[in-house]
Amino acid sequence: MSDIILEVKDLSVSFSTPEGPVNAVNNLSFIIKAGEALGVVGESGSGKSQTFLAIMGLLATNGTATGSAKLLGKELIGLSTDELNKIRGQSMSMIFQDPMTSLNPYMKVSKQLTEVLVLHRGMTESEARAEALHMLDKVGIPEAKSRFDMYPHEFSGGMRQRVMIAMALLCEPALLIADEPTTALDVTIQAQILDLMRDLKREFNTAIVMITHDLGVVAGLCDTLNVMYAGRIVERAPVEDIYSGPRHPYTQGLLASTPRLDEKSHNNELVTIAGQPPNLQRLPEGCSFAPRCAHVKDRCLCEKPPLYSTPSGSQNACHLEGGLS
Ligand SMILES: Nc1ncnc2c1ncn2[C@@H]1O[C@H](COP(=O)(O)OP(=O)(O)OP(=O)(O)O)[C@@H](O)[C@H]1O
Ligand code: SF4
Ligand SMILES: [Mg+2]
Repeated sequence: MSDIILEVKDLSVSFSTPEGPVNAVNNLSFIIKAGEALGVVGESGSGKSQTFLAIMGLLATNGTATGSAKLLGKELIGLSTDELNKIRGQSMSMIFQDPMTSLNPYMKVSKQLTEVLVLHRGMTESEARAEALHMLDKVGIPEAKSRFDMYPHEFSGGMRQRVMIAMALLCEPALLIADEPTTALDVTIQAQILDLMRDLKREFNTAIVMITHDLGVVAGLCDTLNVMYAGRIVERAPVEDIYSGPRHPYTQGLLASTPRLDEKSHNNELVTIAGQPPNLQRLPEGCSFAPRCAHVKDRCLCEKPPLYSTPSGSQNACHLEGGLS
């Protein structure tokens, strides 16, 4: 049990809006182990980002998280901002599509990086400088020393992304959450950043969450995949199993017209499936995917499918798995 880094149980996220509550994440349960890379895929609005923003304690003010998320055994849901600040940057970090979400445009990169080390790891200024420079080297910033005292805008997009990753890694987090970190970058830089994440996993045994629309990214990095639909996990399995035999009709739809999943080509974006995801303010009584599913039966309309265990020990939230004929 000791290699479990994150244990999520029955996690839900709801936003209050003038039109009523938006149920963005509904009763998620999963674990991530040390050195494991978990891919999270699903259409826009399926609850990928809000799941992990809730875990980081970074939900918008109208959002509420319930349930449990334990990092290294410590409950995160309901912690005060002070307590969360200690954990963020120390045991878990998050990187975003836009590096400027994490970087302060008015502060030199050197200051932003060393501050973390002085604050969280009690280093002196000169120790922190040496360590930060070492990390910039590691994330592949050429001539890091001469760039160290520059401001974020003086770096290119790809370099800023690396600076943000360096910052996220300085405290050697047990869990690194990456929300579409390569979407805005060109293909070569994307590949380099993914290589870097693979190294991290190997060298530091970092547990990685990779939220992405790109099935090529998943194939190249992830061990396990959570497929999300309307705020739920509909299928969870080792990546190879999902590629070789997706079981949930939604996953089958996602993969159907995606030709080469095992390659790092850039034509691996999630395909669209006919129809629309349900309104999160009025989730259907039965299976949320029913209006778009070619296999729908009467039972699907009135009974929500549980997450069945598949013969290989994976999970699939579809009545077909439970013997619907
Ligand atoms: N502050 C908010 N108030 C109301 N609804 C919100 C708020 N923030 C997010 N939502 C809703 O929560 C749902 C899930 O959003 P989430 O950001 O997790 O989607 P996602 O799967 O990450 O999508 P994408 O791929 O577009 O990033 C969406 O329907 C979104 O509109
Ligand atoms: S439960 Fe029914 S509607 Fe839902 S995915 Fe399975 S077959 Fe389709
Ligand atoms: Mg998102």
